[in-house]
Amino acid sequence: MALYFTKQSTLHAGIIMDGNGRWALARGLSRAAGHRAGVETVGRVVEAAPEVGIGILTLFAFSSDNWRRPPAEVDALMRLMGIYLEKELGRCVNQGVRLQVIGRRDRLTPALCAAISRAEAATERGSKLWLRIAVDYSARDAILAAARGVAELSLDALGSALGPPVDLLIRTGGERRLSDFLLWECAYAELVFSRTMWPDFGAQDLAAAVREFRGRERRFGAVPEKPMRLREAWLD
Ligand code: FPP
Repeated sequence: MALYFTKQSTLHAGIIMDGNGRWALARGLSRAAGHRAGVETVGRVVEAAPEVGIGILTLFAFSSDNWRRPPAEVDALMRLMGIYLEKELGRCVNQGVRLQVIGRRDRLTPALCAAISRAEAATERGSKLWLRIAVDYSARDAILAAARGVAELSLDALGSALGPPVDLLIRTGGERRLSDFLLWECAYAELVFSRTMWPDFGAQDLAAAVREFRGRERRFGAVPEKPMRLREAWLD
């Protein structure tokens, strides 16, 4: 089993940050304004994550399928990413956040790639939270790339090449799908779907999702630790 950065007691949470567009349209604002509000939420959630026991946080910022969006929106998202990396760098260092960007880099601008490398280098000693931002990311592509890169194909080798398993997967915005996010890593993730649009998501919502996670019994395919009464077993 691969050794990961996080302690056993801390969680790996993945978040599909959905609902920026609908949040903005409901207020007569542009979709870009929704994404700007979404970046504010990222700041709040990153700050709150270690306090609720999250050691690794993977955020889905831009999927490989998001290139299909209108060029102006793609441009706004890429620009926001660059601004976030520059603006939040000091705060990440102060908060002990190690920042890493996952996904393809070959379709990003050289300026954004440089900002990513700077942020990753400046925060590499962060030990309180490992923040992974998925940009131009597709889980299916990542699995293919990992399979091509391992010497011998096995569950352990592929798992190590891909990254830490996800404990808790949160999707905001009311939709209930995985949208090509961390498909392998979510094999036994607990899924929490929230109707809250991402710009309205806050520390309390994150804490509530973690509480829901902690209340669930994770069996990983095994039988429950305490035998259930027949009726409960039937209902399960
Ligand atoms: C989905 O909402 C959200 C995105 C495609 C982008 C998420 C990006 C951010 C929160 C900002 C950039 C992030 C960082 C880390 C700097 P949507 O636009 O699909 O919303 P809709 O479903 O309401 O249309």
